[in-house]
Amino acid sequence: MNDNIHGPAMWVIDAIRKSLTGEGAGEVKARLAHQDLSPAAAVEPEPRRLPACRYYPECVAASMFMAPDVAAALAGIEEFLHWKQNPNYSDRVLGEGYMDNYAYTELIGPSGFFPGDDFLMGLMLLGPGRLYRDHHHPAPELYWLLTGPSEWRRADGDFTRRRAGEMIWHPAGVSHATRTLEGPLLAIWAWTMDVSEPARLVEA
Ligand SMILES: [Fe+2]
Repeated sequence: MNDNIHGPAMWVIDAIRKSLTGEGAGEVKARLAHQDLSPAAAVEPEPRRLPACRYYPECVAASMFMAPDVAAALAGIEEFLHWKQNPNYSDRVLGEGYMDNYAYTELIGPSGFFPGDDFLMGLMLLGPGRLYRDHHHPAPELYWLLTGPSEWRRADGDFTRRRAGEMIWHPAGVSHATRTLEGPLLAIWAWTMDVSEPARLVEA
């Protein structure tokens, strides 16, 4: 139990929950309601920064008008976050410099503020001019873009431009890819179930 961390953690999680709308939002909220978010379940993450964290302040600042509550909460928890990367990803498969421009963190999950029960929620950073190649996972996934624009595609579809504030739902197993443009991307993401299987890149 950690009283110091429970308040900041609930601040950001509640701010996100209140903002979720559209396809997949109901599923995320339903699964969120089943998570133990009590003070007794709260854990203080082991802070860990990665090179992509250099984009965090400008992304939070950019989201201030679109989602002021979330942006304020994100600024408040920056020092606690434990950033990580998919161990199967490398510059070799995703392009020179990719790993210095990509990181994700969990708010709910093994390295987050609450362990979660077959549910993950977190943040992703992706630097400008990057392609996060087609990948898939059994977990249904919701993205909420806090910055933009960026380009997204699902399965064999074309890339479409998405603006800050948009939410994107990926049903279980459907491949998807993300392309950033001139600015870095900060997004909230959630995996609603079947979270033990990691994301896998589609072979080029
Ligand atoms: Fe995904």
